[in-house]
Amino acid sequence: MVASIIYGYHGYVMARILMVASEATPFAKTGGLADVVGALPAALQEAGEQVAVVMPRYAQIPWDSTESAYDNLRLFAGPHPWNVDIRTRVEKGVRFYFVEHPMLFEREGLYAQRAFDYWDNHRRFAVLALAGLGVAQTLFKPDIIHCHDWQTGMVPVYRHDQQWSNPDFFNTRTVFTIHNLGYHGRFSRDVFPDLGLNPGWLSPDKLEYYGDISYLKGGIVMSDWVTTVSPAYAREIQTLEGGFGFDGIMRSVAGRLSGILNGVDYSEWSPEVDEFIAARYSAKDLSGKKACKKALLEEFKLPAGNLDRPLIGIVSRFAGQKGFDLIAGLAEFFAAQDVQLVILGSGEPRYENIFNGWQRWQPEKVGVWLGYNNALAHRIEAGADMFLMPSLYEPCGLNQIYSLRYGTVPVVRATGGLDDTIQTDTGFKFQDYSVAALEGALDEALAAYRNKRSWTARMKRGMAKDFSWTASAKQYSELYARMRATG
Ligand code: ADP
Ligand code: GLC
Repeated sequence: MVASIIYGYHGYVMARILMVASEATPFAKTGGLADVVGALPAALQEAGEQVAVVMPRYAQIPWDSTESAYDNLRLFAGPHPWNVDIRTRVEKGVRFYFVEHPMLFEREGLYAQRAFDYWDNHRRFAVLALAGLGVAQTLFKPDIIHCHDWQTGMVPVYRHDQQWSNPDFFNTRTVFTIHNLGYHGRFSRDVFPDLGLNPGWLSPDKLEYYGDISYLKGGIVMSDWVTTVSPAYAREIQTLEGGFGFDGIMRSVAGRLSGILNGVDYSEWSPEVDEFIAARYSAKDLSGKKACKKALLEEFKLPAGNLDRPLIGIVSRFAGQKGFDLIAGLAEFFAAQDVQLVILGSGEPRYENIFNGWQRWQPEKVGVWLGYNNALAHRIEAGADMFLMPSLYEPCGLNQIYSLRYGTVPVVRATGGLDDTIQTDTGFKFQDYSVAALEGALDEALAAYRNKRSWTARMKRGMAKDFSWTASAKQYSELYARMRATG
């Protein structure tokens, strides 16, 4: 029999890709990971690959919005089997498989209740990994299993554990994408018996990390290829400063590590089509942006009489990663400037307190919205003049790329994906992680803002940049094809 070989859009041999992830838009989101898993599969399919996604059915995904795909899948982690059902639904042409286990996944948060991680996350995400492999054996036989972040780190581990005994996996390759090396999926070694693995797995070349277990490490060392979400971050994580205690591990896999920049979904994030904003606009006709700015100031109950005053936007998880320790040092700076500031975010209470304090202190200048609000995130992208993102580290970062498309000039620290996506002709960058360096970049941006003509030219250069998924999907397709060719 001659096997037929199907070529995809880019001319590579088409592959069947099963993604396993813990979040994806429009179903569940805590950050950019969800944007990526919500958009990359569709882009890969457009390029000719066949893609399906496995993720948990959390409480926020209505059970009756999905259909039954497989009942009573038995998974063996630890002494007792876990029985899960697999539900399914097609979204934007991509088949999603949802792991159904109410006790494990039907909870208020994805990983935590308020600031407290669920005590059984090691179990929840071991079961997700096994369910991913279960789907790979029953419903969607893949050439490549593509995993994302620590929550799926156990997929390559269990795949390896089973590969010699289970012919289903002889030809399956695994890719592991690091979206954030700062989250290690670290658990006490006491939970090891819950994983159903033999003790050999608890060694330093496998799951063991400083006496504990790290799912992130498992995913990195056991997968066939590792990617991260920008070329700059791929370099930084091999250094002591950028490696979060994983730099040695990253250097040890340097020969099978690459950086592929994320794309963005312009059908969601573009002022020409955005359904959440007060007025649509484009680089050809920017008048709608003024209307968006006025509406945004009013929404935050800030004075909207002078639309020439610069408005700076922030949309972010409140975490140290995002540079909030620097922003916290800007109180005096902002007090002395004729600027307004709108902030949307939630996370570490210390930052929430700082911004609440600023708002009470300068109610004319500072607007704060604590919590998660997707529509408001769009309105800030559209209504602000500048977008502030002075991250300590940033694997890729999506908001600065959205900002470019909305003509909202990014002020960023030159790190990771921020450095890769923002150039001096489209935004403002600084190097040192210091308040002084950040103030320098803001001074420069505020001075540049006064020259309307060159500012508008800068906005338009940013709006013309194209970070759509097509280019990134092509690089993933190349990678999948290379992995299949080299075995
Ligand atoms: P990270 O994944 O590290 O949080 P990214 O820049 O990659 O950073 O992606 C963040 C995503 O989450 C963006 O789509 C952004 O709009 C969204 N986001 C972050 N905080 C909020 C919030 N409070 N409300 C709505 N969307 C948010
Ligand atoms: C992570 C990173 C962010 C990246 C996102 C999607 O959450 O912090 O920089 O853009 O994943 O890859």
